[in-house]
Amino acid sequence: MRLSLRFVLPLMLVLAGIAYAVAPMVDRLTLSWFVRDLDSRAALVANTLQEPLQEQLTAGRKAKTIEFFNRMTRDERLFAIGYCAAPTGKALATRSLPAEVRCDELKRWAGPSDHLLASDQGPLHVTVKRMASDAAPEGQLVLVQDMSFITRRSEETKQYLFYLFMGLAAVVSLITVIIAQLSWRGWVAGVRSLLHGEGLLRQPGSGAAPDLPGFKPIARDLQRLIRDLESDAHSRDENQITWSPESLRAILRGELRGEDIIVVSNREPYVHQRRGDRIEVQQPASGLVTAMEPIMRACSGTWIAHGSGSADRDVVDKHDRVAVPPQKPAYQIRRVWLSAEEEAGYYYGFANEGLWPLCHIAHVRPTFRSGDWAQYVAVNRKFAKAVASEAKTKDPIVLVQDYHFALLPKMIREELPDATVIAFWHIPWPNPESFAICPWRDEVLEGMLGSSILGFHTQSHCNNFVDTVDRFIEARVDRDSFTVSFGGRLTAVRRYPISIAWPPAAAMVEKAVPDCRSSIRQLNDLPPGHKLGVGVDRLDYTKGIVERFRAIERLLELNPGWIGRFTFVQVAAPTRAGIEEYQQHEAQVRAMATRINGRFTRQGPPPIVLKVEHHEPREVYEYFRAADFCFVSSLHDGMNLVAKEFVAARDDDCGVLILSQFTGAARELPEALIVNPYDADQCAAALHLALTMPAEEQRDRMRLMRGLVAEFNVFRWAGRMLLDAAAMRRRDRLNVKTGRAEA
Ligand code: G6P
Repeated sequence: MRLSLRFVLPLMLVLAGIAYAVAPMVDRLTLSWFVRDLDSRAALVANTLQEPLQEQLTAGRKAKTIEFFNRMTRDERLFAIGYCAAPTGKALATRSLPAEVRCDELKRWAGPSDHLLASDQGPLHVTVKRMASDAAPEGQLVLVQDMSFITRRSEETKQYLFYLFMGLAAVVSLITVIIAQLSWRGWVAGVRSLLHGEGLLRQPGSGAAPDLPGFKPIARDLQRLIRDLESDAHSRDENQITWSPESLRAILRGELRGEDIIVVSNREPYVHQRRGDRIEVQQPASGLVTAMEPIMRACSGTWIAHGSGSADRDVVDKHDRVAVPPQKPAYQIRRVWLSAEEEAGYYYGFANEGLWPLCHIAHVRPTFRSGDWAQYVAVNRKFAKAVASEAKTKDPIVLVQDYHFALLPKMIREELPDATVIAFWHIPWPNPESFAICPWRDEVLEGMLGSSILGFHTQSHCNNFVDTVDRFIEARVDRDSFTVSFGGRLTAVRRYPISIAWPPAAAMVEKAVPDCRSSIRQLNDLPPGHKLGVGVDRLDYTKGIVERFRAIERLLELNPGWIGRFTFVQVAAPTRAGIEEYQQHEAQVRAMATRINGRFTRQGPPPIVLKVEHHEPREVYEYFRAADFCFVSSLHDGMNLVAKEFVAARDDDCGVLILSQFTGAARELPEALIVNPYDADQCAAALHLALTMPAEEQRDRMRLMRGLVAEFNVFRWAGRMLLDAAAMRRRDRLNVKTGRAEA
């Protein structure tokens, strides 16, 4: 409304001004037309009068002539008539002949523009006509016509003109305002939808095209421009973004137009276990779960995973879904049920006896069985079907996690050709020679190349993968762009070092460090002030727990002063207990702890406390906060998030991290004491250093490490993958439009 008034009032004023300026011109024009009319009328009247007038004059009837003139002037327009027989003397005229019209001054009215006479009666028009004939003497006939009707008409014309312009102003304003309002609304709606990433070509929510045909070309250009600017800004600003759940959500909304995210992993983030007649919810020990869980909280969506808990079936709905986290649901787990045979072949067999040792250099031989492979193929197919049934659109974004699902990217593509599949390999990728021993190496590689993006933690894992592809399958490898073209599709192989949520959840760090120190010492029968080291791992042979214990033994050999003054608590989550290698490993670890404790326990506490049981994240954080150092001695590890969690837990800037050089984390945390876990002497020296490190040095190192984990947190990890996926989707759409093949 305000817009209308602001627009209409000036327009009316402008048009009124124009009317005001135009009126005199119109007046002059109509006057000249009327004068021309009066001239012709005068000529007509003069002609008509000529004959009777000459008769009267010839007969010398002056009185009759005047009476004749009077009769003629009954016509209201003919104001007066006179006749001058000579240039001097008085005219024979009606009484109404104005005094200014005299026979001796008739020349005054002779010119073409000299006909007008202003009088008390109003404007008059004077015409002088020569009357000549053979019968009568030459004289001048004077016709005076009343022009007041012209003035009246001129006034009326001015009025009409004014009303016309006002009417015109109103109509023009109305039309203009309506068009402006419609255009403005359309623009606002268009720009708004563009900014929301909905585009003008699709109605938000409905999927239908809005009726704004005029905007479509502009919208497309604008959309493109905004997107280009945005993607430029993203690549420029990645370092400037404060990576948080909110920034991740913003990427999803803006870059991916609110697409649903589907995550697929074998391990589920929450396991429901039956304990007597109660159901307990556990968060499993898994780096993958640690990383993905905060991402899913931020993004919502669906997480498809193996339902492995004893009470998992009791809590799902009829679609096998359960909302989590239990206290504050933010996303859905869709559970896939596996038979004992499927689990044995796919999970224990091919995934954990085949691929796991194949990818880790831990000197455990992989075992490959064709029966396991068959189950692995079947279970991957089962999950592909689950993805297709959970997808709400034909082109969802599917995040496939880890070595359990090497074949899934290709299978998803068969089900949903337009899906964007981001596969992340959470474990190392070996060199081509090592990988070559896998009997189904080509199938595994081809399955993985169904991904749009394939992520690894480190560049050397990316290099190994690309080398392996190059060596064994018919694919085109571009080492500049780090892409593999296979079967007409392009897969980008990228390094995305995984991380943890930052800041850590408030509940994890709410107990003060001194309280954690005393409660953990109490719990483990350790005196206050007793030096404490911790290790937190799954009881997996790749974690180097045996090597860690050997290092502790060596420390006590080299520095017996620590005997009774220092204890190492190893929190070891039971894992993959169905596999013989793991059973043997557990037995070895237990035996070693017992042996070392037997050797070095005097009166005081033992050097090693081994806790083979599940610990919830909160309990683990309490150990981290209570410890003087944390020892991560993996023999080979994709990243190792325990190292990063220890750093995140230490908001007091104290504590020392001893970290294996064979973890991905060692590349990001050089302020840790980096060790070779196979070198017991070196590790023992690091342990001694950690136990004696001045608080100031601990603080300097810890602050640097905390800075890095804060900056490169898991939201950034996921954000970078999603941004890359968004850019890829834009390129794919463009290729479809321009008809260009991808590869
Ligand atoms: C590693 C793997 C994960 C796995 C975790 C725990 O971190 O990369 O995929 O979930 O170990 O192993 P589990 O077999 O218990 O799931």
